[in-house]
Order: sequence, then C-alpha cells, then structure tokens
Amino acid sequence: PDAESIPTGEEEDDSLVPLPTREGWWTTFVLYQGCWLTCPAVTSVLLVRDHFAPRHDDVLLATYPKCGTTWLKALAFAVANRSHHPVGGGGGGGVHPLLTSHPQDLVPFIELPFRHLHPLTALDALPSRRLLSTHLPHHLLPPRVDELGCRIVYLCREPKDVVISTWHYMNKVTDDFSLELDEAFDLFVDGVSIYGPIWNHCLGYWNKHVADPDTVLFLKYDDMMADPIKHVKKLAEFLRVPFTDEEVGASVVEEVVRLCSFEKLSRLPVNSSGVADRTGGRPMENSSYFRKGKVGDWKNYLTEEMAKKLDAIIEEKLKGSGLTF
Ligand code: A3P
Repeated sequence: PDAESIPTGEEEDDSLVPLPTREGWWTTFVLYQGCWLTCPAVTSVLLVRDHFAPRHDDVLLATYPKCGTTWLKALAFAVANRSHHPVGGGGGGGVHPLLTSHPQDLVPFIELPFRHLHPLTALDALPSRRLLSTHLPHHLLPPRVDELGCRIVYLCREPKDVVISTWHYMNKVTDDFSLELDEAFDLFVDGVSIYGPIWNHCLGYWNKHVADPDTVLFLKYDDMMADPIKHVKKLAEFLRVPFTDEEVGASVVEEVVRLCSFEKLSRLPVNSSGVADRTGGRPMENSSYFRKGKVGDWKNYLTEEMAKKLDAIIEEKLKGSGLTF
C-alpha cells in the first residue's frame, strides 16, 4: 500500500485515513499508531495482529533493531535447547545448530517487512515451546500475547550506540542508498527510525516489566557485555531451564557465552559469508548482522554536541520511568 492508503486499525467505519510520513531513510516511513514503519511493515503488523496465533508458552525475544537481536537469539536458542543440543561439557548431540545456522534463522520473527510473502502457517507448524522474536513495540503486539501471559525477553542498548549501528547497517544493506551520519542522527533524534522512536519502544516494554516482572525480563546490552555469565543464568531461569549445579560445575554457562560471543559467531562461515533473503524482499550479506560488537563505539563517530543532544532527549523522554542508560 502507499502511505496515503494505510489504515490505522482504529477506524470504526474502515475508512482510510492518511498517516504522517517522513522521507530521509531508504524509503518513505509512515507513523502508524505512534511507531515509524515502512509501508510493507505496516501491512506486516496488520497481518500479524489478525493472523498470528500466540500460545501461552511462547517466549518472545523483543528488541529494537540493532540492540543485539542476533546475540539474544543465539543465547536464548543455546540455553533453551541445550537438553538436545548440548553446549560444551563433552555431551553428545552432534554439531551444534549455531555452528551451521545463522542465529537469525534459528529464532523466527513474527513480523517481517514482507510478511505477506511468508505465510504465518510456518509459525503455526513450530512445536511448543516456541522461541519467537519481534521488533514490534509492545503496544503493537497482538493483544493475545498479553492476554495469554506470553513471556517476553526484552533487550535494549545505549541509544548512542544504536544510532551508530543503525547508520552503518542501513548504509550497508540498502542498495542505492546512503545517508550521511548527521542526517541519520537528525532523523533518529526526531524519533524517526525504523520501529522508532527508540524511547517509546524501550518504555513500552519497561513499563510492562515494572508492572509484571515475571512476564518481561528486561536486559541491557551493555550490562550483558559487562557480565555475560550472570545474565545468561538469569535468562535460563526466565526460560524455566535454570542451569543445574552440575552444569555450572562443568562450565556450561561459560561455554554458552563463548559459543554465542561476537568473536566466535562472526567468524563462522555461515555468518561471515554468503547472502540470504530473510524477508522476501531484500537479500543481505549474512555478515551484516556482525560489525564490531562493542560498547561505546559511538565515541568514534558522534561529536560531543551530538552526544549531549541525544542524551538530553533520552533523559527527558525517560524521566520518571526509572529506566536509565
Ligand atoms: P554494532 O553495529 O555496534 O557492532 P541486531 O542483531 O539487533 O541487528 O544488532 C546488531 C548489533 O549487535 C551490531 O552492533 C552487531 O555487531 C552486534 N552483535 C552481533 N552479534 C553479537 C554478539 N554475538 N555479541 C555481541 N554483539 C553482537
């Protein structure tokens, strides 16, 4: 659909209401229920809300793009499936799937920019307990997710690192498109970035976490980088597969962290070479999901003035919520 003909989903008489649009990124963005999306992504949201059937034991990995989705998918997959795909410890089980499959392919997204090309029946066919992922803000998730009490792991990241990661990624994966950093930064601080504004995205899941901490585990990339062992243990508890004393003694937690580390994953042939079209519309190099994997890389790109500006906006937007970066 074009921007002028996208429904908001809230019309009583099904009339079509024009939505605000913004140019600047590789395609027109539209503001759909407070969230900046591409036109196909709006279609995807509507399809998911109408046709995705959540199950009470689903676990959703929710992230704002470029906050470490690939890492979280790898960690959650490794933790949740270690009874039949042992990690380290000399257990059987053959070659671990993370050595031969891209983490993006082991935990499917519920929405996709071109969801209409990927029938949701593929998700229906997955056995329980499903590990699924999403970039949707909390308020755009299908209402049944909350009604059924599906658990959610949310991973966020320092916004200054997110803008730098986003800028690199978008310039890399979109043909015939490039944006100067100051242009990308201006859009980002205006809240105009895919699934943005980032502060609304974080706050939606943060508020749900505060209200219901057993349903939403709230993680931060920087904290996980600082102490991955502690956070992987937390993740395992939340996924209801805590590490046993025996596993801890056999350093299985360390093995999971090592297997899912940037250094390990980014060097595997399945992640460092080749191209895949995961959306039905945009083939991308598998390596696009791995750049530096560092905390604070923004210092190499943003001026002091830019950093202060974004910090001030984030502080203002998060004021009173208890969430800080
Ligand atoms: P940088 O661009 O700062 O390097 P997403 O997976 O949500 O698209 O996020 C991508 C970011 O996570 C990139 O950040 C990428 O390098 C980093 N990343 C990918 N795999 C990682 C891993 N195993 N550990 C830590 N960071 C990782």
